[in-house]
Amino acid sequence: MNPPIPLFFAFSLALVGCLVTASVNRADDFSSDESETTLKARYESMFKIGVAASPFLLKGPLADHVKRQFNSLTPENCMKPEALYRGDGNYNFREADELVNFAQANGLAVRGHTLVWHSQTPRQFFCDEQGKQLGKDALYNRLEKYMTDVLTHFKGKVYCWDVVNEALADGGPILYRTESPWYKICGKEYIAEAFRLAHKIDPDIKLFYNDYNLINPVKRDRAVAMLKELKDANVPIDGVGMQAHWDIGSFNPQELQNSIDAFAALGLEVHITELDMSVYSLYHGPDNEKRNQSMAQKTYTPELASLQAEKYAEAFAVLRRNAGKVTGVTFWGASDRFTWLNHFPRPGRKDYPLLFDDDNQPKKAFYRVIEF
Ligand code: G3I
Repeated sequence: MNPPIPLFFAFSLALVGCLVTASVNRADDFSSDESETTLKARYESMFKIGVAASPFLLKGPLADHVKRQFNSLTPENCMKPEALYRGDGNYNFREADELVNFAQANGLAVRGHTLVWHSQTPRQFFCDEQGKQLGKDALYNRLEKYMTDVLTHFKGKVYCWDVVNEALADGGPILYRTESPWYKICGKEYIAEAFRLAHKIDPDIKLFYNDYNLINPVKRDRAVAMLKELKDANVPIDGVGMQAHWDIGSFNPQELQNSIDAFAALGLEVHITELDMSVYSLYHGPDNEKRNQSMAQKTYTPELASLQAEKYAEAFAVLRRNAGKVTGVTFWGASDRFTWLNHFPRPGRKDYPLLFDDDNQPKKAFYRVIEF
């Protein structure tokens, strides 16, 4: 019989060895440690963990990183009308197909983004062959043709779509974004029309309304008013996409909870569709100097990384509590190297909004998100 003390000692040594190995892997060599916890594994029982990307990025180390961490993929740009539409009946599906093939080959679900939007839709979509603006009926005919062709092309390959994107105005007396060509030609009814058409064409896909700033109480109330009207009119809508372009200065977890509650009370699923946590907070006031300061480049110090990790931890604590109401969480980019925030609002100003650094290595925020 083995004496108990050496056994305990050997076990302790082994344990220390494991912990040391794990911490070395975390710090230095994350990508090569296949046993390390991944986002998708940690959240498997709660909701999908997605990422937005373009097909040209899905190569080499970034492709491996995406396959390893995520189980849902959103086309960042290549399924927008600007990318697909080439005049009635003509499409460029090349990039979108490449992205879908990647997803299918690697077991990722695809979130379609987006069918009806005022932005990244060619001007010709709203005009006849002479360049004259279409009337409502002609635009609905074009929309039906476009949606039929696109939804049929991706049938069985895209499980949900952002049917309408950013139709609401941020403020003002009218709920809707009145400068949108959709609103100008059709009034608010284009929103219901788009959902009805999508459901008629493919009743199997989940249909979402997607917008930004939805944890802002004013915008949330506007969204609730619009969505309630749609639900009351039996418009087929399954969920609301909260874009979640948050920042470390203003993110408020209680407001996130309030919005999830408000949307779930309407019987809607919630997807977090475009998550990032900028290290910059935009200053909207009249003081030019303050504005310039808020636009200045920051160094990503350990303190900033810790603060960002804290905000991500707060956000995911809320999301975990609401698993079931929240059915998908998608990051708007796979690493800090490829984030739209490196080009917006000031081109060339580096941001650090995601869980992985420029080299796909996990940041403090990553560990806070998987620690629970
Ligand atoms: O494709 C051209 C390329 O040919 C050209 O050389 C290059 C020069 O700037 O521009 C390329 O187009 C860029 C395009 O992304 C593709 O990379 C556009 O300039 C750029 O404006 C465009 O930005 C996209 C933006 O939507 C457009 O509104 C971002 O990548 C994309 O992340 C962003 O995503 C939106 C969501 O769809 C909706 N919610 C907000 C979110 C962030 O703005």
